[in-house]
Amino acid sequence: MNLHADEIESILRQAGKLLLSSQAKQVEKKTGDANFVTEWDVTIQKFLQEKLSELFPEAAFFGEEDTEGNLHGLGKGYTFIIDPIDGSTNFIFGYRHSCISVALALGEELVAGVVYNPYSEELFRGQKGQGAYLNGQRLVMENREVSRGIVSFGCARYQATDIDHLFSVVKELFFRSLSIRDGGSAAIDLCRVSSGSNVAYLELKLQPYDFAAAALLIREAGGIITQLDGSPVTLDQPCSILAGTPAAHREILDLYSSWQQS
Ligand code: IPD
Ligand code: CA
Ligand code: CA
Repeated sequence: MNLHADEIESILRQAGKLLLSSQAKQVEKKTGDANFVTEWDVTIQKFLQEKLSELFPEAAFFGEEDTEGNLHGLGKGYTFIIDPIDGSTNFIFGYRHSCISVALALGEELVAGVVYNPYSEELFRGQKGQGAYLNGQRLVMENREVSRGIVSFGCARYQATDIDHLFSVVKELFFRSLSIRDGGSAAIDLCRVSSGSNVAYLELKLQPYDFAAAALLIREAGGIITQLDGSPVTLDQPCSILAGTPAAHREILDLYSSWQQS
């Protein structure tokens, strides 16, 4: 099946130009603490839906922002899973660290993923069974332990349930790793697991559009992504996330379950 990978890449690059061109940001609040949306989130999702449906007229859409024809889950055939701006809070406050994330699923299976950070011009792209690439360079993960890398994690003000638990595990990882980070864009931080910049990433609750594209890239690069209890990630509803090299994933899985029992 031709997944039109070059065309999808080109559409994300155009969406990246839109993101960089954004001037005044009209910010609105969504449900929950510090949960924002700007007109650019909606504009970019609409742009992506319009362009991608020209390529794949039969595909359905599951995106973060509500626009016409947008599902809240997966279709039976091809579904594009879209986060038009991942790292919205970074975007609003001028951090210049946000991305556009698009995954393609066939039924419940991820078949392609593209993540573009227009600020750094880093484009991550992968197809099932055909590897993961960063700006055209094949990504092959070195199986590093936590002690030999940076551990990244995410947390959102509107997801405060169990935050003490997360922070106690992260505190332990602070001592075991070389350093810890919360970059404010789960998609970028997960892609950085695929490229080896991060040895692992964890978060208590992410939506499928936050992690779907990066999940494919991580698997294609040789890494593992599951929920924090080791069960498979879900593409039709939010779930916890633990991604890493096989060694780091194992170590954090054990740490997380022993901490739960204590
Ligand atoms: C958020 C970012 C953040 C993560 C949050 C996500 P958004 O997505 O990925 O890093 O910690 O859980 O909701 O709102 O910027 O698209
Ligand atoms: Ca997101
Ligand atoms: Ca978003």
